[in-house]
Amino acid sequence: MKFFIDTANLAQIKEAQDLGVLDGVTTNPSLMAKEGISGDTNVIAHYKAICDIVEGDVSAEVISTDFKGMVREGEALAELDEKIVVKIPMVKDGVKALKYFSDKGIKTNCTLIFSAGQALLAAKAGATYVSPFIGRLDDISTDGLGLIENIRVIYDNYGFETEILAASVRHPMHIIECAQIGADVMTGPLSAIEALLKHPLTDIGLAKFLADHAKANS
Ligand code: E4P
Repeated sequence: MKFFIDTANLAQIKEAQDLGVLDGVTTNPSLMAKEGISGDTNVIAHYKAICDIVEGDVSAEVISTDFKGMVREGEALAELDEKIVVKIPMVKDGVKALKYFSDKGIKTNCTLIFSAGQALLAAKAGATYVSPFIGRLDDISTDGLGLIENIRVIYDNYGFETEILAASVRHPMHIIECAQIGADVMTGPLSAIEALLKHPLTDIGLAKFLADHAKANS
């Protein structure tokens, strides 16, 4: 399973990249705003800075909700760097834009997926990635991981090549269960990725090894 980090924070992206397990980055307009990035020039410079840090795909979201606007924005974003994946919301014109970019060989990530039907539509339109938001479904007492399972079955039934990008991941158990289900990618915060390495018995065991070594060498 590929690990993407879900942030526009350059320091966190660098930290995840330095860990050696990062396969890509996802951003969205809220994450860009959180970093204080605004205005076309700054937004473009920020995407370029992200692409300079990571080796994998970088999702950059369009703001337009009409077909023409999505195409204009998406083509400009795709020209910035070959790592850029055009992120498109699941709306009617978005489906048309997915097909347009797919036909042109430009990678896409269909975002704001909350149902298996939406994921099926995005795959038929040729999306490279589909992003079901599992955390936001859990937030409203709906089974986010269950949606990943359903999409996995549908895509495997028909051999769709669209990759399931489990998004809105909140904690390490989300990551582990996504891996068990067979999500192709997960995107989450650095804290969830780093939480995977923690176990109290590891800390206790290491402290004992070091103490025994120090005693033997004193
Ligand atoms: C997906 O690509 C989104 O950026 C993201 O995962 C949303 O996560 P949130 O629900 O934590 O905002």
